[in-house]
Amino acid sequence: MHADPTDTAVAGLRLLVGPAQLHDRVNELAAELRGVYSDADRPVLVSVLKGATLFLADLVRCAGIDCEVEFMSISSYGSPQANSGTVRIEQDLSTDIAGRHVLVVEDIIDTGLTLNYLMRVLRAREPASLRVCTLLDKDVRRIVDLPIDHVGFSIPDVFVIGYGLDYAEEYRHVDAIFVADDLDALAADPACYAEILCCGGTGSLPTAL
Ligand code: IMP
Ligand code: MG
Repeated sequence: MHADPTDTAVAGLRLLVGPAQLHDRVNELAAELRGVYSDADRPVLVSVLKGATLFLADLVRCAGIDCEVEFMSISSYGSPQANSGTVRIEQDLSTDIAGRHVLVVEDIIDTGLTLNYLMRVLRAREPASLRVCTLLDKDVRRIVDLPIDHVGFSIPDVFVIGYGLDYAEEYRHVDAIFVADDLDALAADPACYAEILCCGGTGSLPTAL
């Protein structure tokens, strides 16, 4: 499914995916997963901290699959905009995934460098199967060719915040996904949209929430 920003703009902010659309799509992805894992013995859902946590929580509740949930924490070097692909595991899985059915749950795939590294690490541990489910896919930005099994929304080359996705740890709790067009304004003040999105400010965008 393609998601395109609405024309409604408040100071460089546009709604991309509203709560109802998020809810509907998560339900559809959950149904896909029920089909894939109906005969699998307790799949392990591996989520990368912190962005995918909201998506993961909604997905496991909708899917209703008997599964395990695991987290990894990864740090990449350099700025996110100039992702070098050099990644280090800060927090590893707490279980052995050899012979298990593993599903990586991601918030967003951009260049694909982070996921490419993660897939190599997980594949080396010899799971029975290894699939990927991402909420958002910026496929136009991809520099590593990776098969993605389940995609919530294919999005253009824009910077998004909300529903787990942050800028400098702001906006994760926002219950919708917004495009932040003015990255200079965000860099100067990471909380510059907080009043509009989080505190019932006077902008017109929250009517969509
Ligand atoms: P990749 O290695 O380039 O695919 O980067 C993926 C990671 O970059 C994601 O897990 C996010 O943490 C971050 N990222 C990429 N695009 C965005 C965005 O538009 N908003 C917030 N974080 C992003
Ligand atoms: Mg992430």
